[in-house]
Amino acid sequence: MSSIEKAMERSGAGARAATVERLAAGRERPELPRHDLPLARLRAQGYLTPEESDGPLAEQYRAIKRPLLMNAFGRGALPVDGGNLIMVTSAAPGEGKTFTALNLAMSMAMELDHTVLVVDADLVKPSLTELLGLRGRPGLTDALAGDRVPLSEIIVRTNVPKLRVIPAGRTYPNSTELLASQAMRALTQELAERYPDRVVLFDTPPLLAASQASILTYLVGQVVVVVEAGRTVQHVVKEALGLVDSSKAVGLVLNKSHERTRGDYYYGYGEA
Ligand SMILES: Nc1ncnc2c1ncn2[C@@H]1O[C@H](COP(=O)(O)OP(=O)(O)O)[C@@H](O)[C@H]1O
Ligand SMILES: [Mg+2]
Repeated sequence: MSSIEKAMERSGAGARAATVERLAAGRERPELPRHDLPLARLRAQGYLTPEESDGPLAEQYRAIKRPLLMNAFGRGALPVDGGNLIMVTSAAPGEGKTFTALNLAMSMAMELDHTVLVVDADLVKPSLTELLGLRGRPGLTDALAGDRVPLSEIIVRTNVPKLRVIPAGRTYPNSTELLASQAMRALTQELAERYPDRVVLFDTPPLLAASQASILTYLVGQVVVVVEAGRTVQHVVKEALGLVDSSKAVGLVLNKSHERTRGDYYYGYGEA
């Protein structure tokens, strides 16, 4: 073999090695999907957006998120296991679960050193996915069923730098069962272990509608129960709280109250 041939062979091998290296690097750091949230539309519908970091809505969510963050990152009075996984639920539909989950996520993403991931886990009524313009994207169901899409392919980066979203995903025949599956348990564990410094907020179905939300309370560290002022009667709230894993840190948010604040939102927070 001539010295030129030897050089060519060396360079060929070198190029192949470089390609393999690039591919391997690519597999380790895949580009996350990206989507611009419709912030102007959200603002018009009364949701918190980064432009209103000083308004009354921002102030209310600041107060709601404080104890959640203390529990999430071990600064609360008692250690909360998996405290960075937080689910937002309520007794019945229409009480403001999605409203609260998105506003909390926005509030945290606006002011936190940590990244916030909000997951649409209401697979029956995926209104968060709809609201954010993410319908038709692969999401939670695709990670739990079918080909089991990896997490990295369903986490969507947004135009709010610290805010990520997992949409609900496509509809499968057994969609409603998925939240109660072993795969969901594995996924929440993966989220908790892979992103311990990240807040993961789950927008979930109502507790009294089906058993899935109740089962989910066992997979997260903290549970926020939204109560609609003037509508949810006390015994229904009690019944809903009875379905929450009693070992969890539980907070109550009183939504749509006209008391006290100029806006139409007033919060309450306490151990249930
Ligand atoms: N505090 C609030 N102020 C104004 N609108 C609200 C408030 N809470 C909820 N809404 C609106 O009420 C409707 C139902 O709320 P949503 O969060 O979708 O309920 P859920 O997720 O519990 O079914 C939505 O149109 C939402 O924008
Ligand atoms: Mg909802």
